[in-house]
Amino acid sequence: EAAEKGGYEHFMIKEIYEQPKAIRETMTGRLAKDDSAVLFEELKWTPEDVAAIRKIVIVACGTAYHAGIVGKYFFEQLARMPVEVDIASEFRYRSPLIDDSTLAIVISQSGETSDTLAALKEAKRLGARTLAVTNVVSSSIAREADQVIYTWAGPEIAVASTKAYTTQLISMCLLAVYIASLRGTMPAERVKELIRGLKELPSQAHELLEDVEPIKTFAQKYGFNEDVFFIGRSLDYAVALEGALKLKEISYIHAEAYAAGELKHGTLALIIEGVPVIALATQRDVYEKTLSNIKEVKARDAVVIGLAMKGDEQLQKYVDHTIYIPATDKYLTPILTVIPLQLLAYYAAVTRGCDVDKPRNLAKSVTVE
Ligand code: G6P
Repeated sequence: EAAEKGGYEHFMIKEIYEQPKAIRETMTGRLAKDDSAVLFEELKWTPEDVAAIRKIVIVACGTAYHAGIVGKYFFEQLARMPVEVDIASEFRYRSPLIDDSTLAIVISQSGETSDTLAALKEAKRLGARTLAVTNVVSSSIAREADQVIYTWAGPEIAVASTKAYTTQLISMCLLAVYIASLRGTMPAERVKELIRGLKELPSQAHELLEDVEPIKTFAQKYGFNEDVFFIGRSLDYAVALEGALKLKEISYIHAEAYAAGELKHGTLALIIEGVPVIALATQRDVYEKTLSNIKEVKARDAVVIGLAMKGDEQLQKYVDHTIYIPATDKYLTPILTVIPLQLLAYYAAVTRGCDVDKPRNLAKSVTVE
């Protein structure tokens, strides 16, 4: 097993460090040389195929579900398609309103999660066109779906998903641009710009992984708190959900993610002196609003760790510590912001002496209901 870990102490940290490579592999062969288009040889959709889709439903569990929430922003904003995202175990039992004008996308690292597989079968039974986004070739979900996009992250061993998530995000983004191009909802220049941003991500992820000391220090400092809150708006909120899940899963710290604007409707009551709040503030269009939420938690003496994009001079004035991600397109921030959150969870778990790769009560792949 030590050999398989390639010199790392745990599979999870090895897989976190594999992300630059995994992200690159997900994109390999899927981008036109002149950056003008996303190519999906495995799909070969025509404008007519895409015109027949009236609605997208994304169904998944756990971390893959969180990737689906990010996907919703991509499909709605880039391709202007209505999207619903659902947890597989909920979808199955709610009599979903779907038919042959629905594209059902199921996301699953393992391709074996029983609720996701059952949801896929239900979507098919109702006549939807189905597409699996999975990491495992010939998995049950890959075989059951009409079409498959592989994430090509390589084997993921640690129970807590890391590189599968970032490659699911890349897949969602590529698919959204692919559909947007077929629907004509993105100007050619914008497509190019986004594709160039995508191509920079492997080196930007690498850059983030070069400087982990401050994150290690936060984890050691705050790793013994029993509650941690994550806040953000828009895509930052979607990533906050994943950050909180990572922390819960492996460090057993109670973590909650809240849409920053929703704080006042409950969670603010729990913000007292010294409670750590991780505030993601990378989205310019909601920046001022997020900042005012940060001021609210600061006014209650929370300890705030802010996540900002490089070049942001403002956030550091309002928070206790700031972590910067390399400057990127607003749609691509989730792929970078999640990395410090994965590291924070990892180092918190190590600090607390937890079994990082095999957290109590959890399994890598849940094949029972
Ligand atoms: C389990 C794993 C999670 C994973 C979820 C969905 O709960 O511990 O890491 O996100 O299953 O798994 P899937 O293989 O369908 O992505």
